[in-house]
Amino acid sequence: MSLSGKSAVVTGAGMGIGKAMTEILLHNNAKVAILDVNKTALEDLKTVLNKQYGPENTLFLECDVESEQQFKAAFQKAVDTFGGVDILVNNAGVLNEAAWEKTVSVNIMGVIRGTYLALEHMNKLSGGRGGVVVNMSSIAGLGPFVCCPVYTATKYAVTGFTRTMAAAAELSGYGIRFNTICPGFVQTDLFSNTPTHLGQYSHLSEKHQEYKDMLGVLNPSEVAEGLIQLLTDETKNGAALMVLQNKKEYVTFPPFTL
Ligand SMILES: NC(=O)c1ccc[n+]([C@@H]2O[C@H](COP(=O)([O-])OP(=O)(O)OC[C@H]3O[C@@H](n4cnc5c(N)ncnc54)[C@H](O)[C@@H]3O)[C@@H](O)[C@H]2O)c1
Repeated sequence: MSLSGKSAVVTGAGMGIGKAMTEILLHNNAKVAILDVNKTALEDLKTVLNKQYGPENTLFLECDVESEQQFKAAFQKAVDTFGGVDILVNNAGVLNEAAWEKTVSVNIMGVIRGTYLALEHMNKLSGGRGGVVVNMSSIAGLGPFVCCPVYTATKYAVTGFTRTMAAAAELSGYGIRFNTICPGFVQTDLFSNTPTHLGQYSHLSEKHQEYKDMLGVLNPSEVAEGLIQLLTDETKNGAALMVLQNKKEYVTFPPFTL
């Protein structure tokens, strides 16, 4: 699938990985609705991206993925502005073991909310034109990240939800592919702030350092390249792409669908 002329919605796109994903989509001639809860980050990015890619290719929308009302309105605005949406990247996420309910709410409920909005607008069975949804998981969604049990649980949920949606979409004929991306550590605010967001697991913070030394730290643009791979390869549905240093690899799961 070529990205040229396609329309995308990216959540949590004001900073970090979401920003890098937005940039690579624009670079590939897609139009992007840039959603974030952080108004200042959006304003800063607007100045830069509109200069580089033109205001006709971007749409900046303040949107908290925890709010059904805001997310629904933002998605609708993207559809109205671009004449439809072909790609949704549910990237917004937080890591905070002390505020664990929020971590569950943003990372799981936000992803499900976005996915169902995409289904509403993109499902070929109800007049949509199909497309691709990519949900942001993590290597924490594949193996225990010992200092972050709740964050790990949310990322397992994203992986499981996405793979199940992929199977359901195929059986139902929605015409939408669902994939997930599982990066290692990435140099962003979320990553830098992890040691102070461990709550009752703060005593395990040296494990974070240990894993960091073992795996290294990616640049957000390396994850964005993985996104392009998942979007453009039309054979991928239900895939989980692990992105580590100098290595992008599809995860092999046990071969059954219940
Ligand atoms: N940084 C890493 O090491 C790493 C590794 C694997 C996966 N991830 C995942 O990648 C995604 C992006 O993380 P990041 O590292 O770029 O984080 P980040 O903190 O740098 O950026 C996250 C962005 O999401 C926005 N956001 C947060 N809550 C939101 C909400 N409720 N609604 C809308 N926007 C919201 C923030 O304002 C921010 O702009 C997350 O889902 C994270 O779990 C990160």
